Amino acid sequence: MVALDPIRLAVICALAGGSVEARETFLVTGATGRTGSLVYHGLRRHHHGVRALVRDPEKARGVLNCTRCDEAEGIFKGDVTAGPEGLEAAFHGVSSVVILTSSFPVKLPNGTWVYPKGGSPREVDWVGGDAQVHAAVRAGVRRVVLVSSMGTTQPDSFLDRLGGGYALFYKTQGELGLMSASAHLNFTIVKPSGLVDDAPAGRTLLVGRNDELVRTGKMSVPRSDVARLVIAALEMPALSGNLRFDLTSDPDGPATTDFAQLFAGARALW
Ligand SMILES: *[C@@H]1O[C@H](CO)[C@@H](O)[C@H](O)[C@H]1NC(C)=O
Ligand SMILES: *[C@@H]1O[C@H](CO)[C@@H](O)[C@H](O)[C@H]1NC(C)=O
Ligand SMILES: *[C@@H]1O[C@H](CO)[C@@H](O)[C@H](O)[C@H]1NC(C)=O
Repeated sequence: MVALDPIRLAVICALAGGSVEARETFLVTGATGRTGSLVYHGLRRHHHGVRALVRDPEKARGVLNCTRCDEAEGIFKGDVTAGPEGLEAAFHGVSSVVILTSSFPVKLPNGTWVYPKGGSPREVDWVGGDAQVHAAVRAGVRRVVLVSSMGTTQPDSFLDRLGGGYALFYKTQGELGLMSASAHLNFTIVKPSGLVDDAPAGRTLLVGRNDELVRTGKMSVPRSDVARLVIAALEMPALSGNLRFDLTSDPDGPATTDFAQLFAGARALW
C-alpha cells in the first residue's frame, strides 16, 4: 500500500465528494437509548460521520430513523455483554467511540426493582464496558467518551442496592477499565447527576469531582445537555482528553455554550 500524505488524501477525499472532516467517523454505542439517540442525531446534524451500535435494528428503525438499518447505513448490530469479538466490524475505522450502553433496572408491579436478564450492571457496565474498550484498542480508536454516573464515592448507597445490582460499583469498574487503556487512547469520563427528560435543555452546566456537587443541592441534568457536552468533547479532542468529572446543572442559569471553558474548568479541578 502506498502511504499518502495528508494533503493528497484531502484532495482525494474532496474529489470523492467528501470533505476532509468526513474521514473521521464516530461510533455511538447504546445508540437507541435516551441519551445515545440524542448524541447520534446531534452528530448527524453537525454533519459528522456517525455509526450506531445497537442490539435491536428494529428498534433503531424508529429511534434512529434508518431505512435498511444495516452496516451500509452505519447501523451495526452487536451485544457488548458477549465480549469484544462481535464488535470488530463496528469499531473498525472509527476515530472516536461514545460508550452510552448502560444497565437500567425496571420496576415490577409490586414495587420491586430488578435488572433484566443479561442486563445487570456487572454484565453491561463492567464486562460490556471492558469489551468495548478492548475492541477500541484493537481497532486503533484514539478517543473514548464514557457516560457513567455521579455518586460513586458512597459505597452501598440506595442506587447500589437497587435491584441488588451494585450499579455504581460496577460503573466505577467500567471507568477504571477505560482509564487503564490510557496508554492506547484518550478518555473522557462524564459522571452526570440524575438524568431527566422533562426539563428545558440548555441549562448552566456545573463540573466537579468526588461528588462535591451534591452540596449545591442541584442534582439533575437534562439528557439533551449531556448530549451537547458529549458532542463538544468529540469536537474538541485536545481539550477534552484524559478528563473524568462530575456533571450537574443549574436550571436557573443561562445555557452553557462555551465548552472549551467547561473542559478547562474540569481540568483545573485538580
Ligand atoms: C428521517 O429520514 C427521512 C428520509 O431520509 C427524512 O426525510 C426525515 O427528515 C428524517 N426525520 C428525522 C426526524 O430525522
Ligand atoms: C415482587 O415480585 C417478584 C417477582 O414476582 C418477586 O420475586 C418479589 O419477591 C416480589 N417482592 C415483594 C416485596 O413482594
Ligand atoms: C489526548 O488528550 C490530550 C490532553 O490530555 C491532548 O493534548 C491530545 O491532543 C489528545 N489526543 C487525541 C488523539 O485526541
